[in-house]
Amino acid sequence: MDVIVTGNRAELTKAREATGRGRYALVPTMGALHEGHRSLIRLAGEQADHVVVSVFVNPLQFGPNEDFSRYPRTFEADLAVCAEEGVRVVFAPAVADMYLPDRQVSVSAGAMGSVVEGAFRPEHFDGVLTVVLKLFNLVQPDVAVFGQKDAQQLALIRRMVADLDLPIEIVGGPTVREGDGLALSSRNRYLSADDRATALNLSRALRAGAVQRGPERIKDAARAVLETAARLDPPLLLDYLALVDPATFTEVAEDHRGEAILAVAAKVGTTRLIDNVVLTLG
Ligand code: PAJ
Repeated sequence: MDVIVTGNRAELTKAREATGRGRYALVPTMGALHEGHRSLIRLAGEQADHVVVSVFVNPLQFGPNEDFSRYPRTFEADLAVCAEEGVRVVFAPAVADMYLPDRQVSVSAGAMGSVVEGAFRPEHFDGVLTVVLKLFNLVQPDVAVFGQKDAQQLALIRRMVADLDLPIEIVGGPTVREGDGLALSSRNRYLSADDRATALNLSRALRAGAVQRGPERIKDAARAVLETAARLDPPLLLDYLALVDPATFTEVAEDHRGEAILAVAAKVGTTRLIDNVVLTLG
């Protein structure tokens, strides 16, 4: 069956009528689809009868000095990926289809949106939650699938679903990596070979932390790798290394038991990369 491409609410309604009954899964994306996105589409297929993929580079979640205008846009290739993966509907609205020029109301991510990643990207998570809530309302999925790669985003979406009583099940998918550990990201295509060699130290640092016991030792081991990488050419420019509670994204105490997320963000040249691993402490 062909993929139905839609750009607005009316077309989505028609596409749903054409597709028929059953359970719908939504995979929200900003396009430039890679194996990580593919894995989420497959996971969505296991959860539902029909998969909808949204492709929308959301201006609200980019800061004034971020890469909105140069974010990779590869729509034809994205459609081919969706067709290969058996996606029924691709929802790809224009900015003007999504946002009224006089829009006023948006979602606030609260305190949890201004820590860790949010401390470096003010209003980023408000922009993410606002677009995700709109996508939920437009597509009306039964289930939506997000990657653990963006762990704080996933945690905030679960929080929004709980706090705003959204009737949608949220499923998280594991981070897909290259053979050498680099987490797949649409932004990896900006990296030169030397940049990439430096960028590998993000996942290397997480692995070094993961084999230690206790929050301080975990962070020290990861930090040692990051400090060495800061002296490379090009250097790894660290934004943060944090060991946090997966549900709240607050730093865990030294006596923390159970799951924790070791999260890192750094720049290589002008490319900003994030990565994380889930650890079990105690
Ligand atoms: P985007 O960066 O395109 O990512 C879309 C989805 O793919 C997210 O849920 C993200 O966590 C997941 N993803 C990215 N890299 C992955 C990897 N290596 N392995 C597994 N999953 C991966 O995240 C966004 O878009 C936007 O913020 C969005 C939710 C679409 C709202 O605009």
